[in-house]
Amino acid sequence: MPSPDSLRDPRDVYDGPGMAWSLRSVGAHLHPGSESATVALADRAAAHGFAAGGRVLEMASALGAPARFLARRFAATVVCVDMDRRMHAAAVVGHRSEGLGLRCQPVLGRTERLPLAGGSMDAAWSQDALCHMDKPAVVAEVARVLKPGAIFAFSDWIAMSGFTAGDRDSLSRLWGFPSLLRIPEYVALLDGAGFEVLLAEDRTRALLGARLPAAADQELWLESFAARFGKDAVARQREPSETWAAMIEGGRSGYGMFVARRR
Ligand SMILES: C[S@@+](CC[C@H](N)C(=O)[O-])C[C@H]1O[C@@H](n2cnc3c(N)ncnc32)[C@H](O)[C@@H]1O
Repeated sequence: MPSPDSLRDPRDVYDGPGMAWSLRSVGAHLHPGSESATVALADRAAAHGFAAGGRVLEMASALGAPARFLARRFAATVVCVDMDRRMHAAAVVGHRSEGLGLRCQPVLGRTERLPLAGGSMDAAWSQDALCHMDKPAVVAEVARVLKPGAIFAFSDWIAMSGFTAGDRDSLSRLWGFPSLLRIPEYVALLDGAGFEVLLAEDRTRALLGARLPAAADQELWLESFAARFGKDAVARQREPSETWAAMIEGGRSGYGMFVARRR
């Protein structure tokens, strides 16, 4: 594990300039692939028994776009856990404006200690956020709060065979990721915590194939970003993105989707 001193707080990644940069890159579904990645995970979850209705735990709900999608697609009440107050404040505006204020419920807290009763959730969901977390603690908490037979669907960044200690330290410093797991390590973690793994899919190629070309007005947008946040802010935002892109293109990091059933 990297030292706690070098682990960036995820809330800093999404400060004012970080959020403006991320919204420009992916929109309110705050992950690569944007809404199409949410749909891809939902299709896989539904094919493996993610049922309609009930209470769904959405971990690291951020701006709430995936929660609103889940509320509509699965007619669910979505319990949105995130540790960042600013994310909840922005999410609630979106929930209300889309008429989902009662169906998407914000809960401020850390996923490593979910403030939820045991056996109280019908399903669990997370996209591209376990990378920020203590994964064994979170998976144990998900197992605790899910009802037997409930589905846990998530996507996350994964380590590939060439992943190095230097890569891990860069991701810790630039992105606030304490560690990444390889797919077999995720499968073993889920299995040991009481889940039957139904899907463990390497989606790296799909993600790389879905990358969009730069927008025609990208240079203008960068100028306005620099005018708003300062010239150095562009370099500060580019460093994490470019470091990580190099890892993915070099086959040292990738992207996975997982569906598991609580035994
Ligand atoms: C990449 S964003 C998640 C994106 C979101 N799942 C989506 O798809 O739109 C990371 C989010 O994880 C939250 N987060 C990171 N670590 C957390 C933890 N241990 N507990 C709760 N929230 C956490 C951050 O506050 C931030 O909102």
